[in-house]
Amino acid sequence: MQNLDDIAKEVRTCKKCHLHKTRTNAVPGEGNSQAEIMFIGEAPGYHEDIQGRPFVGQAGKLLDNLLKGIGLERKNVFIGNIIKCRPPGNRDPQPEEINTCISYLLKQIEIIKPKVICTLGRFSFAEMMQRKVFISSEHGRPFKTGSENRLGEGLNIFPLYHPAAALHQPGLIDALEEDFKKLHAFLTSPPPENKVKENPLASVYKKTNETPQKKEKQLGLF
Ligand code: URA
Ligand code: SF4
Repeated sequence: MQNLDDIAKEVRTCKKCHLHKTRTNAVPGEGNSQAEIMFIGEAPGYHEDIQGRPFVGQAGKLLDNLLKGIGLERKNVFIGNIIKCRPPGNRDPQPEEINTCISYLLKQIEIIKPKVICTLGRFSFAEMMQRKVFISSEHGRPFKTGSENRLGEGLNIFPLYHPAAALHQPGLIDALEEDFKKLHAFLTSPPPENKVKENPLASVYKKTNETPQKKEKQLGLF
């Protein structure tokens, strides 16, 4: 099986779609192969194209600060994009470009097996969920991908506003900070199936107001 470096090498020389003609550098994404969290943006912008690294402009600085707020650094997570080369003039990626490039993200997800994939912005969220999305009402809570999803079934998708959007609309910075707190809580609380199950006799105790020991004896269960 390929590792993240193998994929990065392949991306840097990829010519599978016409975006390779206008890029300066492809941006494979970077981070920890053991990461619990992947952050997935839309596509490289101007600075990312120059440096070949994801989220290195102003939006990236905001992302770094948000990570710091929940005790994380870039090296703890993986940061990447839906497509790996910058569309000219930052136009939206086109469906055929996404269809060609998406296999790289799929392989990155398969290697990392993150607990959660945080989408940055509406575009990335819609692409991951393969449906129309409503970022203003859906941000800040987890969703699962369905069985038809080409990136895999049952992935936890946690939509966040795009940090670049928050640079233009300061109100969104508060929302992003709140959502990072919720993300932290989501990651640190055990999944429901691992939670200690409620004692099946609890409702009996409640009804009878008796102590557990007394009730257990009475029912002759032990
Ligand atoms: N915006 C994105 O969506 N991705 C980047 O890598 C940088 C800015
Ligand atoms: Fe290859 Fe993706 Fe870049 Fe297109 S956008 S050339 S598919 S790496």
